[in-house]
Amino acid sequence: MTDDLDGVRDHYRATGLAERLKTVLAVLGPEDQRLKPEQLATLDQFHTRGLAATAELAKLVGIAAGMSVLDVGSGVGGPARFLAATYGCEVTGVDLSEPFVEAAIYLTGRTGQAGTVSFKAGSALALPLDDGGFDVVLLQHVAMNIADRPLLYREIRRMLKPGGKFATFDVVLNGGDPHYPVPWAKTPAESFLLSAAATCEAIAAAGFRTLVQQDDTAGAKAWFAALRASGPPPSLKLGVVMGPGFADFAANLGRNLMEGRLGILTAVFEAVPAKA
Ligand SMILES: C[S@@+](CC[C@H](N)C(=O)[O-])C[C@H]1O[C@@H](n2cnc3c(N)ncnc32)[C@H](O)[C@@H]1O
Repeated sequence: MTDDLDGVRDHYRATGLAERLKTVLAVLGPEDQRLKPEQLATLDQFHTRGLAATAELAKLVGIAAGMSVLDVGSGVGGPARFLAATYGCEVTGVDLSEPFVEAAIYLTGRTGQAGTVSFKAGSALALPLDDGGFDVVLLQHVAMNIADRPLLYREIRRMLKPGGKFATFDVVLNGGDPHYPVPWAKTPAESFLLSAAATCEAIAAAGFRTLVQQDDTAGAKAWFAALRASGPPPSLKLGVVMGPGFADFAANLGRNLMEGRLGILTAVFEAVPAKA
């Protein structure tokens, strides 16, 4: 494994996460009580605008019943559980962080979805799956942790059936250097941001045709403004997953967006034969 991946792995090394989740989830009832995926949404959707953003991306890419969906960098599995519950699709998640994968499997057991939602530990740069098995691949707030974008997007392309779709929702460089720490990186050493244009160019070069490309920065800024105004947060938050420093990380992402340093890209692509 490369140094880049080691730094990122350290950032998401949430030791004992599944045990911590077990403790905080006691507030929702006893261990054997089945949870609804949406009850976990404040701690298991690890990206700007939370569950609403996952729901919009799913609609935009056209997820439907019976589809096979791959979530690359699946975190603690909130998007995967939401998609399976909402659309009746099968979802596989792959994530670099073993504690996150363990937590994702635990939470999926609590929602009773182990039959349709599964997770594997692995790198997006060497996905531990056979070629051509998926109708849709999702990538939400992951690319900014990955230096080798050509390889990332080629791996995603390799996963898709002919005509399959790839939907991405990621933080992009906009007008300046970001303030750190941010939710995906304590220092610039774990952060590999590109502009929206450079991101879309790298995706196209891997064998994709653009179907949708939109700037979601205004929506993200409005979401952060509402968060700032909403007062003390509830107890079930992403801080449970990422530790007590998370409030500062999230505040800096809001500041970077407000100051025009960073933006948010939403885009959907269709797999086409790769350029020679
Ligand atoms: C900000 S979280 C987003 C998680 C999830 N996509 C979500 O939206 O809830 C970024 C995730 O990407 C994963 N990640 C970062 N680099 C990765 C890589 N090279 N391969 C696989 N996963 C990676 C991290 O472990 C982390 O779970």
